Formats: sequence, structure tokens, C-alpha cells
Amino acid sequence: MPRFYVTTPIYYVNDIPHVGTAYSTVVADALRRYHLLRGTEARMLTGTDEHGLKVERVAAERNMTPAAFATSMSAPFREAWPQLHVEADDFLRTTEPRHIRFVQDLWKRVAANGHLYEGSYEDWYCVGCESYKTEKELLPGNVCPIHQKPTEKVKEQTYFFRLSRFEKPLLDLYARRPKFIQPETRRNEVVSFCQAGLRDLSVSRTSFKWGIPVPDAPNHIMYVWFDALANYLSALHAGSDGKSHLQFWPPKARAVHIVGKDILRFHTVYWPAFLLAAGYKEDELPSEIFAHGFLTVDGQKMSKTLRNSVDPLRIAAEMGADPLRYYLLRAIAFGQDGDFDRAALVERYNADLAKNLGNLLSRTLGLASKLMGSKTTATWALSDLDRATLEKARELAREACTSWDELAPHRALEHTWAISSLANQYVDRAAPWAEAKSGNQERVETVLNVLLSLLSGLSLLTWPALPERSQVLRVQLGLAPLKPRAGQDWLREPFAPLAAGEPLPGGPPLFPTIDKDAEAALLGRLAAAAAPATPPPPSPAPPSIATEPPTQTRTLPLPADLLEAGPATSPSIHYDHFAQVDLRVGVIVSAERVPKKDKLLRLQVDLDEEAPRTIIAGLGQTFRPEELVGQRVVVVANLAPRDFGKGLTSFGMILATGGSDALRLATVSGNAPAGSRLK
Ligand code: MSP
Repeated sequence: MPRFYVTTPIYYVNDIPHVGTAYSTVVADALRRYHLLRGTEARMLTGTDEHGLKVERVAAERNMTPAAFATSMSAPFREAWPQLHVEADDFLRTTEPRHIRFVQDLWKRVAANGHLYEGSYEDWYCVGCESYKTEKELLPGNVCPIHQKPTEKVKEQTYFFRLSRFEKPLLDLYARRPKFIQPETRRNEVVSFCQAGLRDLSVSRTSFKWGIPVPDAPNHIMYVWFDALANYLSALHAGSDGKSHLQFWPPKARAVHIVGKDILRFHTVYWPAFLLAAGYKEDELPSEIFAHGFLTVDGQKMSKTLRNSVDPLRIAAEMGADPLRYYLLRAIAFGQDGDFDRAALVERYNADLAKNLGNLLSRTLGLASKLMGSKTTATWALSDLDRATLEKARELAREACTSWDELAPHRALEHTWAISSLANQYVDRAAPWAEAKSGNQERVETVLNVLLSLLSGLSLLTWPALPERSQVLRVQLGLAPLKPRAGQDWLREPFAPLAAGEPLPGGPPLFPTIDKDAEAALLGRLAAAAAPATPPPPSPAPPSIATEPPTQTRTLPLPADLLEAGPATSPSIHYDHFAQVDLRVGVIVSAERVPKKDKLLRLQVDLDEEAPRTIIAGLGQTFRPEELVGQRVVVVANLAPRDFGKGLTSFGMILATGGSDALRLATVSGNAPAGSRLK
């Protein structure tokens, strides 16, 4: 297959990125990278799902329009993935015109083919799933089994999609294309579901407004799943670069949708049925839909609090993104449920990354420095052991490739690391230090050159999982950075000898070992970061700060006012007093002017809490609201709420310096995650 297209689910904007959504995204990125490495043209899509009742309701609770809310909540997703070394080729928001145009056209085609009819509908609706449920599917008390929350009875005028007509075509499709739904157990579930009979599906809503308008039916908006599923194609019709990328859709490419098991039915029943109804042929449907399992934390379903304890961005900031990627890809069998365990993450880091791969590199470079003057040579007089080792490594590399091709990253990495273990055993057996003692320089150089060729192959094979560290590995071996190019298969002969006479620069350990003390400190930091940030106190009681004059404690001035007063001579305070001030990194997710107050801006600031905080800040004479969105700021998070009247309350303060029309924001360097405490 000449091209590869991989997609993640598009994520709902009522939440922020977490380890569950990071999992789907990292897998998709690793698959994309593997295919690039093979010289295949590969494309990855991710994005945000922004319509629906859930978003409309949360926006209303925040006093925001759904559009402004969606914009503010989409940004954290766009910004999160690069921090995990994910390089998606496109990021689609379902509120973009390119998407809306495509979906309305798709609707028209389905309607023109006679697959829609009008009617009225009454059933239980789960806002969490954005899906109607029959009584049979619910728990006692009409509770949704997935969200464990009561559903609502909804009755409305709607367009129905004749899903029942597609029962047979879908069952035929599943029978003809055994890989269409993976893994096998999920396929069986879907087949049984269809065999039990498909009911027509309500695909428009008249009971709320936040959705894509149905063409020629002004009071209907589209069912959010009709809209969302189409993202996989709308983004190819018009990429964010304005170009068509339809060459990435079957039959011209292999298109794989990575989804969680929770949304399997939408992807394997509704999506192909919508496409068939719009006139797409069977070979123009996605190639494969792979449902992965769900992650738990410490064996428990991820509640918000538990989830915070494994914030992927925080872990990446502490340990680097590559070790987190490796853990997600290797420790969880793709397709099965898995547990995310921080101690296991550190254990795997030490065992696989530091002791196995990292140690192989430092050992080899150490020996090369001592025995070969840190320069490659042309010596390549292979013994039986060398030949057998290289042959075994080639076989493992082929198995790794097959596993990537079969969407099994955990097995691909198992085979890849088996090469590293093999190389470590090989050094012990070949014992170049002993050969050096007996003056056998040809043997010494051959062994080291074999080791270097194995490491060079490993720098390629590990790239999908460790895109950054594998490049550092190459630098230490004196190799040019890996730049995949269509048509160039880097894995055809991964263990070729390195060019002779080149320097081996070496460098610090690729993965420094985390010893017991460092591990305790790291886990402690992650746990501290996970503790919920102090919520705004319910009463206006001021925080007790010794130096604060009593007059300022009731109505605290805005930062600009405070700073305009000029530097006061401050008596020194004890650390304990300072520590009472909860200073945190905040990321401004939205900003708007407060009407009739040119100084004031209403900000929504992400402090990694349940929801962004509203902060009213006196920044309006220096900054335009749009300049502030995305900025990292320092927030006083435990300041008593301040009431500005007219329903405006500020839950915190932003630090800045300068006059009110020339302010500069206090900020932190690097990518410190939202919510990090300053101390
Ligand atoms: N918006 C829909 C998807 C539309 S796709 C056309 C949606 N969004 S979601 O934000 O709820 O994301 C769901 C996806 O996030 C899951 O399918 C899965 O890929 C991922 N995960 C969310 N929680 C997860 C775990 N606890 N574990 C693993 N993945 C999880 O549904």
C-alpha cells in the first residue's frame, strides 16, 4: 500500500487532554512515524469535536458563547500534543468552515439518495455519550452504564437515517473484510450487535442550537456524531493548508481509525453506513478501525482526581516525553485494557531505557573510545558469532516491522528491545576487552563495528516511539539526523556497517538511571502536582499574609493598581508566610473585554483544575484580548474572590509589572504545565 492515513478520535472540548486521550494520540503518531520510516507517504489527523448539547451546556454555565468556549478549550489540545512529540499533519476543529461545508454536502447526498425521513422521536438521552439510549441499555433509574449518570427523556422532531437498510450491507462488509474491525473480539461484538437488528437513527436535533445547520431545514441541527465522524474525510477534502489530500483515502491509501472501545459502534456501524448512504463504494470506506482498551490508574477507573495524578504533560515535563511514549506504547497491549502506574513507569524507564538501551550505547562508546580512538574503522571480519548475531537482529527487526504493520506497537517494541538485549549479550560473549589484552585488534574493531551497526539500526527502529532520544542516539554515533523521505525505506537494511573513519562523538547518558532517592523525589513531585489546586475559598476571608496592610485585605487592588503605587519598602517575611501564597502557572485560554471598563479584561485561565478560572485583570490598556490567549502567566491562586459587581467575580490575580498602559506579565520559562506551583 503506497500511502498510510491514521486518525485519532477528535476530542470533546468539555475536557482537557489527559492520559487516555494522550494514549490514542501517541499511538497514532508512532504509527505515522513507522510508515514514514518505511518510505511510505503517511498522514496523521487529530482535532477537536466542538458541537453538541454537552458543549452548549458547559458554555452556558461559564457564561460564554459555545463558540468562544470551544475556541478556548480546543487550544489546549493543539498545544498539548507537540509536547508529547506528536507531529500531526492536520488538526481539525469541527467548527471550521472547511468541515461544515463538507458535512452539509454529505448530508445532501444522503438525503438525495433517499436515506433520510422526518419524524418525531422520544427516548432517553445521555449527554455524556451524546447518544440516545433504549431502556434496555440503561441501568435501574435510567442511568447510563458508561457515565453512571441519569439520562434525560427527550422528545423532538427529527430526521431519521434509514440505518435499518444497512444491516445486510454492513454484515456483508464485515464478512468480506475481516480486518475492518479490530481486534477480533471487538469485531464479534459489532457483528452480534448488527445481527440483533439495526433501528433507524435520529440524526438531527431541534431541542438545542449548537450544531451544524441541516441544509434547507432551519430549525434542525445535525446530530453531533453525523458531524464528527465526517472529520476524517472533511480534513482530506481541504487540509488546514487549503489543499486536498484525498490521495490519503482508500482505495488510494490504507486509512486506519484509532479509537477507544467506547466509541466503537459509532465508527464501525454509523460511519460506514453514512458513507454507503452518500454513495461511497465499499473500497472507499476506511480500511481498518482499531479499538484500543481503556487505561485505569492504579487499577481504578480514571476519576478526575486520579487522572490528574498521571497528567501526561507533567510527566513529560519531569521525565521527557519519550519515556512516557515508550511506556504507553510498550506496557499496554494495544487493544486490551491497561493500567497506568507511575512506579511501573519508572521501573520500565530504568530497566528498558536506562539499563538496556542506554547502557548498550554508553558501554559501546566507552569501549570504542578506549580501544578504537572513538573512530569507526572499515574492519569487518565477521566470525560465526557476529554473523549469527546480525542475522538474529535482522529477524527481530522484521518481526518488529510486521508488528507495526499489524497495529501492534507493544509487540513491535518488544522485538526492538530484544535486539538491544541481544547486543548486550553479544558484548559479554565477544568480550572485546579480552581480545584487546591479547592484542587482537582486528577482532576488537570488528566487534565494536558490529555493535555500532546494531546501535545505528536501533536508532531507526526506536524512532517511532522515541522521536527525540533516537536522534540524540544518532548524534552520539556521529550519524546524520534521520529525515524520512517518501520512497526511502530506512529499514530495508537497518544494520549496515557505519562509514569508516568517522568520529564517534558520544555524550552524556541517553537515559540517566533514576535511583531510589531520585525516584522517591520524582514520584513525590508528581503526587504533589496532582493534589488539587486550592479551590477559591467560599468566604471572602483574606489569605493571611503578614505584610499585607489590613486596608488592602478586603478589596484587593488589581495588579496594575498595586504596581502603580510603586515599590513599597517591604519588611522581610519568613518563608512560612511566603509559602501561604499559592502561586501557580496559568495558561490563558480566553480573554475578552469587560464592557464599559477599558482597563478590565475577563480571562479564563487554565490552572489544571476541573474548569478554567475566571480572573478579572486590569490588563486592558496594555493588551488586546487576543494577544493574551495562550500566554503562560503567574497566578495568585488562593486570593479571596473579589466581586466587581454586575456578576463579575475574580478568582485570583495575575502578576505583572509596569504602568497600566505598559504592563509586562510575569511568566515562567519553558513549558511548565498549567497548575504547576511556584516556590
Ligand atoms: N468526540 C468523541 C469522538 C468523536 S470521533 C469522530 C469522543 N471524544 S472524547 O473526548 O470523549 O474522547 C474519547 C477518546 O479518548 C476515546 O475513544 C479514547 O480514544 C480516548 N480515551 C478517553 N479516556 C480513555 C481512557 N481512560 N483510556 C484510554 N483511552 C481513553 O468520544
